[in-house]
Amino acid sequence: MFIKQISLMTIISGSLIATSCNSAGKKAEESTDSVATTAAPQPYGHVDGQEVLQYTLTNANGIVVKVLNYGGVITDIITPDRDGNKGNIVLSYDSLAGYLQKGNPYFGTLVGRYGNRIAKATFQLDGQTYKLAANDHGNTLHGGMKGFDKVVWKATPQPGDSSLVLEYTSKDGEEGYPGNLQVQVTYTLTADNALKIEYAATTDKATPVNLTQHTYFNLSAGKDANILDHVLQLNASNYTPVDDLLIPTGKISPVKGTPMDFTAAKKIGQDIGKVKGGYDHNWVFDKQGFDTVGSLYHEASGRYMTMATSEPAVQFYSGNFLDGSLDYTRDGAKYVQHAGMCLEAQHFPDSPNQPSFPNTILKPGERYTQTTVYQFGVK
Ligand code: BGC
Repeated sequence: MFIKQISLMTIISGSLIATSCNSAGKKAEESTDSVATTAAPQPYGHVDGQEVLQYTLTNANGIVVKVLNYGGVITDIITPDRDGNKGNIVLSYDSLAGYLQKGNPYFGTLVGRYGNRIAKATFQLDGQTYKLAANDHGNTLHGGMKGFDKVVWKATPQPGDSSLVLEYTSKDGEEGYPGNLQVQVTYTLTADNALKIEYAATTDKATPVNLTQHTYFNLSAGKDANILDHVLQLNASNYTPVDDLLIPTGKISPVKGTPMDFTAAKKIGQDIGKVKGGYDHNWVFDKQGFDTVGSLYHEASGRYMTMATSEPAVQFYSGNFLDGSLDYTRDGAKYVQHAGMCLEAQHFPDSPNQPSFPNTILKPGERYTQTTVYQFGVK
């Protein structure tokens, strides 16, 4: 990966970085290596009277990931193309105003307490009925009116500039969910050009939990208006069909012979016209446990990305509702339909109402964890 860009010097400093980061803190502090210092976060505005800061993660290969403590938003993932030209491969805004605008479709955000939809904004648990905030045609989407994407997290940069810990406590009753939920998310930019996202949560009452990340990728870094030429591959032989409001019917259906089949690498544009509204579905991975689940490739730039996750599924959303109307876009970009795409590692939508789906209920004394890794390269 990025072999063309890596000089002997950076390989040497890369291994120094890897040593300093892997031995958690102590070594990094002792290091006199100038690249292992911690850059100060940059002021980015205010929300709810709290300061928003932008943190920058870097690695020795020059990959840069920028993150806000507001919503855990990833504003930038800067990687080189095959000729070494760097660009931001995620959709983003030029300022906080963009992230705060009405209708911001979760650009770069963390999503919770329950990513994706819960039908009719209600579920039953231990004999009790819970009413959630209905923010999507009578259903609840991405945690409700003020989900984890719209709150300021406590951010703690780790020594060495490659890792950031975000923490948030969601109060009992917030958006209708039971239990005080303590959430921790760690973003780590690894020495081998991967963005690792580790989630953990504990609760004091049983509650549904489904955390994910909502970055919109466009590996052309602004060169292509849409992602229809991107080549996607998913190790998923099944998906969960949905009704018109994108609520799963409860079936788990084979992708074989349908436009949903990405088991062999395929251009996203190839069959998208055959799917009403575009891709916005939950693919069920074939693997068990943490494993590589797919890849995304943009031939013109040479950039590719692989994805690995502990989650049983992914919502592949092809930016269907983008229509060029967002304000404050980075460099004035027009984010038209399919300008970017999300690969949201997750549990199945509406699991709290679907007894046959894998469990999403976290109980007191248990610990929710999920790990997703996006690795970047060129070929
Ligand atoms: C959902 C889409 C939704 C988008 C932005 C995706 O995760 O599946 O239906 O429009 O998020 O809100």
